[in-house]
Amino acid sequence: MSKLTLDRILQSQGFGTRKWCAELIADGEVAFNGKVVRDSRAAIEADGLEFAVYGEVWTYREHVYIALNKPANFECSRKASHHPGVLTLLPEQFTRRDVQPVGRLDHDTTGLLLMSDDGPFIHKQSSPKHHVPKVYVATTQEPVTPELVAKLLAGVKLHDEPGSLAAVTCRRVDTHRLEIVLEQGKYHQVKRMLAAADNHCVALRRSQIGMLKLDELGLAEGEWCYLDAAQLALLKPD
Ligand code: URA
Repeated sequence: MSKLTLDRILQSQGFGTRKWCAELIADGEVAFNGKVVRDSRAAIEADGLEFAVYGEVWTYREHVYIALNKPANFECSRKASHHPGVLTLLPEQFTRRDVQPVGRLDHDTTGLLLMSDDGPFIHKQSSPKHHVPKVYVATTQEPVTPELVAKLLAGVKLHDEPGSLAAVTCRRVDTHRLEIVLEQGKYHQVKRMLAAADNHCVALRRSQIGMLKLDELGLAEGEWCYLDAAQLALLKPD
C-alpha cells in the first residue's frame, strides 16, 4: 500500500514537473478513479489507480516493462543521430520517466526489443552473467549450407574478441534464412559471425528473448505493449 499525493503520482508517471502536474490537476484536466479532484496535495492509494489526463486513461505503474516490435531505421542509442530513436515510438511521458532500451539492436535490425525504467531490471537483463538465449532470424546473401550452420555451431573467431564465439543452436530455415540462438550480446554479433563464416547478413530480426516470443504478442511493426508478471517470468534463464 502506498499513498502518494496527486501531483507526485502524475509526476512519477512522466507527465511533467511537479509544478506542471499540480497546475494540470488544479485546472481539472485530470480524473483519478473516474473523479476530477483539483487538490493536488490530496493523497490517495497509488497501486491499481486509474487516472485520465485530458480524457486519456492510464493505470499507475511504479515501473513499466515494455515489448516493442522494432521497425528498421530506428536507433536504440539515447542520442539518436542518423535515424529517429526508438523512444519516439512510445508515448512521450515514457521518455520523461527515463524508459530505456534493454540492450541494443542495430538501426536496421527489426523485432523484439524490451524497454523499461527499472534500472536493476535493465542491468540484470543486459548483464553477460544473465544467460538468456536470444533468437534471431538472419537473411543471408549466400545460400545457407550445412557447412555454414556447422561453422556457427563450432564457433568463429571475431576481431577483438579473445576466444571464439559459437551459436547455442543454429538451423536452416530456408535457402537464404537461418535461425541462430545466442547467449552473448556482442556488438553486431550475428552480422560479424556470419561474415566470419564467409556469408553476409542482409536482414536481421530478433524473434524471441528467453521464452518470450514476439509472434505471440501480436504486435505489428512499430507497436508496443506492457509486459505482465507472467510474460516477465519468461525472460528468466532456465
Ligand atoms: N547481432 C547483430 O549483428 N545485430 C543486432 O542488432 C543484434 C545482434
